[in-house]
This record gives sequence, C-alpha cells and structure tokens, in this order.
Amino acid sequence: MEDILIRKGDEVPGRIVFGQDTAGVAPVLETCAGSRPVLHVYVVCDINAAGYADRIVSALPAGGAVRICGRYMLKATEEDKTMGSVLSMSEWLLTSGADRNAFILAVGGGITTDMAGFAASIYKRGVKFAYVPTTLLSQVDAAIGGKTGVNYLSYKNMLGVIRQPEFTYICPEVLETLPVRDFLSGAAEMVKTFMIEDRGFMGKAMSFLSGLHEAEDKSGYLKDNRPELLSLIHAAASVKAGVVSRDQFENGERRKLNLGHTFAHAIEKNARMAGDDITHGEAVSIGMVMAAGLSERLGLAPGGFAPELAAGLRAAGLPVDCPYPVRDLIEAMSKDKKAEDGIVHFVLPAGPGDVRIVDMTASRAGEILA
Ligand SMILES: NC(=O)c1ccc[n+]([C@@H]2O[C@H](COP(=O)([O-])OP(=O)(O)OC[C@H]3O[C@@H](n4cnc5c(N)ncnc54)[C@H](O)[C@@H]3O)[C@@H](O)[C@H]2O)c1
Repeated sequence: MEDILIRKGDEVPGRIVFGQDTAGVAPVLETCAGSRPVLHVYVVCDINAAGYADRIVSALPAGGAVRICGRYMLKATEEDKTMGSVLSMSEWLLTSGADRNAFILAVGGGITTDMAGFAASIYKRGVKFAYVPTTLLSQVDAAIGGKTGVNYLSYKNMLGVIRQPEFTYICPEVLETLPVRDFLSGAAEMVKTFMIEDRGFMGKAMSFLSGLHEAEDKSGYLKDNRPELLSLIHAAASVKAGVVSRDQFENGERRKLNLGHTFAHAIEKNARMAGDDITHGEAVSIGMVMAAGLSERLGLAPGGFAPELAAGLRAAGLPVDCPYPVRDLIEAMSKDKKAEDGIVHFVLPAGPGDVRIVDMTASRAGEILA
C-alpha cells in the first residue's frame, strides 16, 4: 500500500507508512538513521500497547542501525495527559542520557502520541520522533497532522505545538486487542472523514462496521478482514493528510475536520457534569447526526439525509440520539474553543463528501433544531 506524504509547500515533513503488522516498523525506523551509524531510539509506550512495543523491538536486527536506549511506559488517561507527565518524560530522557540526536518512538493511542510528540518537540529544543498508533482513532486522526499537546486546568489540549513526526506507521494488527468501545470511537471519526471527502469509501465503511457490529468474535472479524480495514484506514488517513497538507495551521480548510465536534464537545461537557459515560467517538456520532439535522433544516442537505446517516451509524453500534435537550448544549457550544466573538463555525454535511461551513450563534442553531 502506497505511503502518504504530508506536504508543506515543496517540503515533505512527514510520511505515513502502511503495513500488515508491527514487524514492518523495523525497516522504516532503520531509514531514519540516515548517515548516522546508530540511531538512538527512546520508546514511549502505552502500558496497554506494551506487547506491540516488544514486537517492534524484537524485530530489529541485532547490530543494525537502530539501538533501543530505553522505554517509558505511560498510563493513557485524560487525567494523566498533563504537563507533569511531559516533564516526567523529559526527566527520563535527561537521566537516560538522551542527546539532541535522540529519536522518540511513541507506541499507543492519541494520548500517547500527543504527549510523546510534545515532549519530543520541546526536549533540547526539539528532537525527532515517530508514531506507531495503536487505536483506530489515532490511525485515522490523532497521529496525522502534527498537533501535539496536553490538557491544562480544565481545558483539553490547551498547551502544545504543531510539529510533524518523521513517520507514522499504520498496521491493522494492533487493533485486534482494542476494546470495542475504543474501536467505535475511531470508527465515528472515520465516518466523519468520509463525510468530508467520500472517495467512494462511505458505503464500504458503513458495511464494514455493521459487519463488525454483528460479528460475535470482533477480534476474529478484524483479523479476517485486515485488507479491507487497512484500505479504509488508508483512505481516511489520506483525506486527513490532504486537508492538513493544504492547511497546516487551521486557517481554513482544516476546520472541516471539526464536523460534528461542536455538538460533541457540548455533549461531552454535559455528560461530565451529569456523571454520564459517553466516549468522544460516541459524542461525535451524535454530533454528526445533529449537524446533518441542522443542515437539512437549512436546506443544505436533502430531506431524509439525517435519518439515513443515523441509521448507518446505529447499524455500526454507535449512538445517534442526544441524551440532553438542545437548550442544554447552547452555552457550551457558544464557548466552543473555535468560536470567534460568539459566532460558531458550524461544519454541516450537505451529503457524503460535501461539507459546508456556516457561521451562526449557538442559540440560533438551537432555535433551528428545536
Ligand atoms: N493530535 C490530534 O490531532 C488529535 C486528534 C484527535 C484526538 N486527539 C487526542 O487523542 C486522544 C484520544 O486518543 P485515542 O482515542 O487514540 O485513545 P487513547 O490514547 O486514550 O487510548 C484509548 C484506550 O485504549 C488503550 N489502548 C491503546 N491501544 C490499545 C491496543 N492496541 N489494545 C488495547 N488497548 C489499547 C489505551 O490504554 C486507552 O485505555 C485524546 O486525548 C484527543 O485529544 C488528538
């Protein structure tokens, strides 16, 4: 499967490499040694993905161009996604003797890649790094585009930088141990991506996901359908890489990636206050259906579009009904991180592969949806 290149003008600051399993990381890592006789690699790893880090390390040829200098294990929770954790990682690098030629390899989901990428970006004013994302969400989203960071006070991803990894290595093998709810969280982002740019993959994604939902042995289903899954991930990753290459610093097109997220963040905030358990992907699924409903009422999407989207997501095992009245979401939406002077940039789907950005206040959106 072809590599995807992240472009910045004429430069290619990053690439996404695809393989069937973790054994394929070794040769890619070796290319990063360049003219150096030995690449000193420091592995930052999610404790739940430690087995994959072991496989990556054991596939490296003895006496080759890559030397593993140490491993830092982290607990991937939003509570631990803090500056304190990044400082601990930096301290570990320092006490392990990591110099400016150190290379950090992050193995884990979005929390791990966001934090390791941030630590690598500030350690000794920046060392090189690469990702092996082990969740679907990080394969189609978090590990692509160069956003790194941590939560601060009560704000998500408040401190961080944008910096591209040397490579992101994606393989379906790692997803076979992922809890179903985490897999579905990524699935919602994948559907969102195809809503932004379809490329003929939306139908394929929906039928893959409904097959997974019906399968009793989920892990077996993923194993049996690795090529199909890899081609969906490749397509979604390539849409995100294209958007990011065209708009690295979120001045325009990158906003489209926010589809469903204005509603989702408000739903997540309500859920936190009510003590309800809703994952980010579940909130995105509900948020996309709300955005589709708003789009329909504004006449952008044809009648029946929102119910059809809802039916597809429901068949994939994702929730589609907002558990809170719209009026309870308005305040949080008007304080959306990306709102400007009270105006929210709603990303609305007009059809698969066709999204529009419509500016309005959150209360106007609430009135239309009520
Ligand atoms: N940088 C970006 O552009 C960007 C984009 C989207 C999301 N994010 C961030 O990504 C984070 C969410 O990432 P995520 O959904 O990948 O989740 P995560 O990193 O929180 O991982 C989810 C859970 O799965 C476990 N896990 C990871 N890989 C596993 C595997 N292969 N098998 C079994 N368990 C495994 C983790 O330990 C964790 O419990 C959020 O903090 C979000 O802010 C960043």
